[in-house]
Amino acid sequence: MNTQDNRGPGLLLTLPTELSSREARLSPFAWYRAQRDAAPVQYDPKRNAWDVWAYASVQKVLQNPTLFSSQRQAMAGREPGPASILSLDPPRHTKLRALVNKAFVPRTVETLLPRIKTITDQLLSTIDHPESFDVVKHLAYPLPVTVIAELLGVPQEDQAFFKETSDILVRGVEDPQNIEHLRNQKLEARMRLGLYFRDILQARRKHPADDLISQLVQAEIDGEHLSEMELLGFCIVLLAAGHETTTNLITNAVRALTEDPGRWQWLVQNPGALSSTIEEVLRFYSPVQATNRIVTQKTQWQGYPLEPGHQMIVWLGSANRDPSVFENPDTFIATRHPNPHVSFGYGIHFCLGAALARAEAHVALTGLLQRFPNLQAIGSQQLSPIISGFVYGVESYQVNGTA
Ligand code: HEM
Repeated sequence: MNTQDNRGPGLLLTLPTELSSREARLSPFAWYRAQRDAAPVQYDPKRNAWDVWAYASVQKVLQNPTLFSSQRQAMAGREPGPASILSLDPPRHTKLRALVNKAFVPRTVETLLPRIKTITDQLLSTIDHPESFDVVKHLAYPLPVTVIAELLGVPQEDQAFFKETSDILVRGVEDPQNIEHLRNQKLEARMRLGLYFRDILQARRKHPADDLISQLVQAEIDGEHLSEMELLGFCIVLLAAGHETTTNLITNAVRALTEDPGRWQWLVQNPGALSSTIEEVLRFYSPVQATNRIVTQKTQWQGYPLEPGHQMIVWLGSANRDPSVFENPDTFIATRHPNPHVSFGYGIHFCLGAALARAEAHVALTGLLQRFPNLQAIGSQQLSPIISGFVYGVESYQVNGTA
């Protein structure tokens, strides 16, 4: 049986059933290894999809947008929604990307650091019961959503609405009988977000402010403003991509660092290793395990007979554990160097928010390490994986900060 998952505007990802159990979602890595060992790229007739497992093959797909398109909805014959940068090909993609790039370059992100620190401190100071608290609820979720809301210039009071709608956008199929219901829920969530942002766009057209939405409204490509659909697509994708993934990076980091009792204390004593630790978390517990592309033409590619419309499922989480690139790939090595993981993608769609995500993870973990130098996981908890085709993380992660 197939399971499908829509990511925000336009990403349709078909998952193998082997990944539907709780255990497989929490730890799909041995299964990836078996697949990768069998073949770098495999066709699955049941899903009409190619699974791309090996690092080199993953890069080859992602660096060839002519053969492997990101226009998932158009190729699948579906109604186009708001055009998101994630689902565009050149030349439009190149132009749109140039417009927003400036807002996310490391230098701009640096100016946000003091604010990220303040938000982190405020969140950590609300932890009333440090002997048992949920990292997701208290820090990993609210930090990125507050930062992206401020960057976009939307009111913080609307955070609950953001969570509810973007949770639906990234939700995967729990019960395959319910695909239609989920699809409708996703459509509705997208519509509600669209209406919400339409009002904000209107307000910013009249009264520009110092925020990203005002910049987007005023931006021009070849003398033309972005269309309403493009603007909406941008807002929705930044909101969804801007916080679900970073939430999981922070939570996955705490999980990786507390699964082995010595790791947290080691990092407390070696704070200079935090950046390489974050890169290793990105590799080891990649917040985005897969993305996809659609084949544009009939061709023989690397000896594989591709047909137009075939889906390529590009397994970033498997590439990140490919032993031909990473020594001891299934071992967490906080000082690993070099660490050329593909967790933020590769090629022209490389994650726009990478610098921001890294900065947020750095500040969040520094705050936790300083406040809770003996932090431990609560051993008795049963982890619940996030039900999503591509986002990797757990719903909550209980820790004891006073151990
Ligand atoms: C740990 C956190 C994050 C991870 C693991 C991540 C991962 C990714 C990946 C794998 C892609 C490429 C998808 C593809 O090629 O199909 C991507 C693209 C993108 N990401 Fe992220 N992301 C993260 C955080 C963020 C943040 C914080 C933002 C924005 C505030 C963001 C905005 C975007 C955008 C706009 C794109 C599309 C770029 C394009 O199409 O040119 N991401 N991200």
